[in-house]
Amino acid sequence: MSNTWCDSLPGQVVAHAGLSNRYGSVVTIWLANTPVVIISGYQALKDTMIGLGEEFSGRAVYPLLMKSTYGYGVLSTSGHRWKEMRRFTLMTLKNFGMGRRSIEERVREEAENLVEMFKKCEGSAFSPADMLFNALNNVICSIVFGHRFEIEDPQFKSLLRTVNTYFTVLSSPLGQIYNVFPRLVSLFPGKHHQLFKDLEEAREYCKREAQARMNTLDPSCPQDFIEAFVLKMKEERDNPDTEYNFDNLVSVVWNMFSAGTETTSSTIRYALLLMMKHQDIQERVQQEIDEVVGQDRWPSVEDRQNLPYTDAVIHEIQRYMDLAPIAVPHKMMCDTEYSGYIIPKGVMVFPLLSSVLIDPKLWKNPNCFDPENFLDAVGRFQKNDAFVVFGMGKRACLGEALARIELFIFFTSLLQHFTFKATVPPEELDTTPKDCSFGRIPRTYECYAIPRK
Ligand code: HEM
Repeated sequence: MSNTWCDSLPGQVVAHAGLSNRYGSVVTIWLANTPVVIISGYQALKDTMIGLGEEFSGRAVYPLLMKSTYGYGVLSTSGHRWKEMRRFTLMTLKNFGMGRRSIEERVREEAENLVEMFKKCEGSAFSPADMLFNALNNVICSIVFGHRFEIEDPQFKSLLRTVNTYFTVLSSPLGQIYNVFPRLVSLFPGKHHQLFKDLEEAREYCKREAQARMNTLDPSCPQDFIEAFVLKMKEERDNPDTEYNFDNLVSVVWNMFSAGTETTSSTIRYALLLMMKHQDIQERVQQEIDEVVGQDRWPSVEDRQNLPYTDAVIHEIQRYMDLAPIAVPHKMMCDTEYSGYIIPKGVMVFPLLSSVLIDPKLWKNPNCFDPENFLDAVGRFQKNDAFVVFGMGKRACLGEALARIELFIFFTSLLQHFTFKATVPPEELDTTPKDCSFGRIPRTYECYAIPRK
């Protein structure tokens, strides 16, 4: 089939899936001297992450994660603190969605800027990686600080460098060794020292922004995430047990930057790569956008329901990419019995999302890139509960709604304005993902963005 593509899954995932095929949906492996329980398959993940959601809701913490958040925030915390920060963050993101300047407007502003940047490449070959990363970072800036930054702004450059170095160190052998022997690795020179300095600066900047708003804030109308948090800090100032303090604020902000930029920018990079490989799919998406949106206005989230093929392609990109094969590792909150085993409190758990995303019982064509996986017999978009790329249950991605808006608006705006072509014949394009410690990302590439009007 012309619009499908098959190749092998990364070794790590195959190894885990192989273990599960042989030993069942609950398997223990040992990473050095640490036991890790791997849960695989849709039913087992539903039973544990949803049915026993509270018990499986803890977060396993690595030294690098600890070094960036000091045990505060939402991504790397467990129990009461996590619940409070998660509830507040979800609610605030939702309120912005409905409020004055909607999340969609902020996303669209960035997508429009990105289109202008791509136009400046004037049809010559370029790597879209940095421009995409900057744009997705700016969306988070707009939500957190209330405004976007110009690319040359020194503060923005410093934030970008911090997020970038964080992922470089996290994915490097150095980062992995640091996670096992943090004290020892701290004694040696390397990029991690610069990262720790940059992280401190980013935290200080965020704290300064919050302090500046303490006296100027209009309580009836918080304009951004920091203002909403500062307002809550003021409301709770007489509560000695409050979680609304500067430590939690700066760590939640860092969580949004670290979890919400590389994920979405890598997905769009992967999307463009797959469109270059499958020109027929790219043309069909463009045709649908032309018919429904045209060329005279920008796409909006409301268009999604009238763009079933495009919607199916975006879902299939995410399913096929399998960005976070083991989600973000969990930790047991208490001794728990499941499937005849007692899983002890504190044990690390990997929810093997990959096992659901490639299960032949759940997908028409699981091992290939095929939008038909999300279409019914008459071409309507078809939801599938096995689409678990954002995780399942209480710890599932809290940026899912934002990510879905970003992916839709960026993808449709880019394909409305450009046709993407590779610098090599499509059959020579390597679309196998690169494994890095936090997930699967596309290989670096150059492309042509040929204007459509
Ligand atoms: C393509 C985009 C994205 C994907 C595929 C994705 C996927 C995930 C996954 C698999 C998890 C872990 C679930 C688990 O532990 O079981 C997660 C957690 C998280 N994500 Fe996302 N994510 C994306 C974008 C975003 C964005 C834009 C934000 C920005 C706010 C974000 C913020 C978070 C946070 C804060 C957590 C931790 C939640 C918690 O621990 O309670 N993510 N995401």
